Amino acid sequence: AVELSLRPRYLAEYIGQSQVKENLKIYIEAAKMRKEALDHVLLYGPPGLGKTTLSTIIANELGVNIRTTSGPAIERPGDLAAILTNLQEGDVLFIDEIHRLHRTVEEVLYPAMEDYALDIIIGKGPSARSVRLDLPKFTLIGATTRAGLLSAPLRDRFGVVSRLEYYTKDELSFIISRAADILGVDIVGQAADELAVRSRGTPRIANRLLKRVRDFAQVKGDGMITESLACEALEMIQVDPVGLDQIDHKMLRSMIMQFRGGPVGLDTIAATIGEESQTIEDVYEPYLLQIGFLQRTPRGRIATPQAYAHLGIPMPDNRS
Ligand code: ADE
Repeated sequence: AVELSLRPRYLAEYIGQSQVKENLKIYIEAAKMRKEALDHVLLYGPPGLGKTTLSTIIANELGVNIRTTSGPAIERPGDLAAILTNLQEGDVLFIDEIHRLHRTVEEVLYPAMEDYALDIIIGKGPSARSVRLDLPKFTLIGATTRAGLLSAPLRDRFGVVSRLEYYTKDELSFIISRAADILGVDIVGQAADELAVRSRGTPRIANRLLKRVRDFAQVKGDGMITESLACEALEMIQVDPVGLDQIDHKMLRSMIMQFRGGPVGLDTIAATIGEESQTIEDVYEPYLLQIGFLQRTPRGRIATPQAYAHLGIPMPDNRS
């Protein structure tokens, strides 16, 4: 599929996150030299920054298989046991949204991570006994948007903990040009830059915008993505000059118009604009915090003067 082929497959093709990349390169090489499984890796950070992509790359670089699942998909301890016993020596097990693992499942993971072992209870009542089953040595890669939600015992079992950061404009521009190349669409440098500044530091958004703008170029133009065509298309799909979409606007506008800029609680904002608190917290809020449009205080969220300025709403005098 196209979506998959846009993803880089090796570290050398992966743009950005240079610190994380450099470190992983060393850990991978060391593990290969020792012919051991790589230590367990926890990747955390906002959605769309490449946690899944990086996991696939790690498996490719190690030359092992990757088995992909997610926290909520593993319903019972037996589900996890089935996955673990089917791994081959050195394989990568990728668990997305690992903060959403059930507690009972998480407990199976502890001995698996620490001793590559599965503790199975046989029988019931007084005659019940525990049998330890050896597992192949594997690498768990956990991904989460919320490292803070992980229990301490789980977090402590990861040997490598890496935080992914928002990408710079230049990195995103590079990613967009590379993706355009793969998709076989012509894009001028300034148009790639324009898409980059509107991608909220996020490759997933950059690639999505590129595909939408490509549609406009194909239908309204001659296929070439020029700067003016890109701007026109981005306006049509309601992505503003700093990359904010309708939901960001709705949220900031509501905070300002209905709650005098805050402080206002997350759940109140969510209920007012009809979005999930979780989505706001994981997807929308991190970028608004990053660009300084939002602040978190113990009493709730506040819209900053920069947010007022961006929306063109004058700040009341009684707030500073
Ligand atoms: N596509 C999506 N994310 C990417 C990245 N970090 N490097 C290169 N291409 C990408």
